[in-house]
Amino acid sequence: SLQIPIIDFSLLAKGDEHETRKLDLACKEWGFFQIRNHGVQVKILQKMKAAMAAFFELPLMEKKKYAMGANDLEGYGQAYVVSEEQKLDWCDLVALKTLPLEQRNLNFWPLNLPGFKEAVEDYSIEVQKVAEEINANLSILMGMERDGLKRYQGELKQLMRMNYYPPCSSPDLVVGVSPHSDGGSLTVLLQDDDVIGLQIKHKGEWIPVKPIPNALVVNIGDAIEIMSNGVYKSIEHRAITNEKKARISAAAFAHVDDELEIGPLDSMVDDPHRPPMYKKIKYIDYIRQVLARKMDGKAHTDLVKIQT
Ligand code: OGA
Ligand code: NI
Repeated sequence: SLQIPIIDFSLLAKGDEHETRKLDLACKEWGFFQIRNHGVQVKILQKMKAAMAAFFELPLMEKKKYAMGANDLEGYGQAYVVSEEQKLDWCDLVALKTLPLEQRNLNFWPLNLPGFKEAVEDYSIEVQKVAEEINANLSILMGMERDGLKRYQGELKQLMRMNYYPPCSSPDLVVGVSPHSDGGSLTVLLQDDDVIGLQIKHKGEWIPVKPIPNALVVNIGDAIEIMSNGVYKSIEHRAITNEKKARISAAAFAHVDDELEIGPLDSMVDDPHRPPMYKKIKYIDYIRQVLARKMDGKAHTDLVKIQT
């Protein structure tokens, strides 16, 4: 069956031309790909998975000590909201600001859970290196130097969203996470090796992302779609629940500073052949608008699309 592209990260990091072209095509045609040979030690992946499992196994009362406030992006919460298809979202989550280290709010972290802080910290640092190397490659593909995106975006921040999807006997009534695109620059997802849940919209069809043991799933977020002037796609995706098995995932969202104005990069604009397709907007203003709307079959980036 149809699968998202698989990229060998070690070749990418060496500047291999064939692999770089594969990355370009993956971002244009799929907005999603899996990476293998990403250099993050299996031990670090396993510790991260174990830390998440241990957190979600805590009694509800214990987890509620880290509860998300009404306007917080951080903390423990549920996503039991009614989606457009009148299905219920069925997911427990904890979101933490992981990078830069000084922006952590440790009051949201379960510090008395042995190994949790160390596991999340180690994983978040490793996964950020992966995101930065991909950004360096995208910079070159977008006609800049390797540090082009870094100079434009600044040091990327990271929000780690850990998801727990309980098993559900009527998966046709319940969706794990309803369709959405990610607002940030790049998302790197660590998922279970043996439970399928993530699906992406490709040419009008929902395509399941089949786990490859110890690989990571990467997707382009809205901010990179905007910066690339629409060349790279931030794709709608969702997670479905499994009848028998729980599923855990960690989405590391690499994103720019709230105050940064994002818009199409100069190197991606060529008036009049390829005029700017998106308005410039402060990142936080964009995110506020995204959080206030539902996907409704239309891309979030339509919010800033210049009508022609
Ligand atoms: C997300 C997301 C998918 C998954 O957290 O933004 O899309 O498989 N998660 O958990
Ligand atoms: Ni997502």
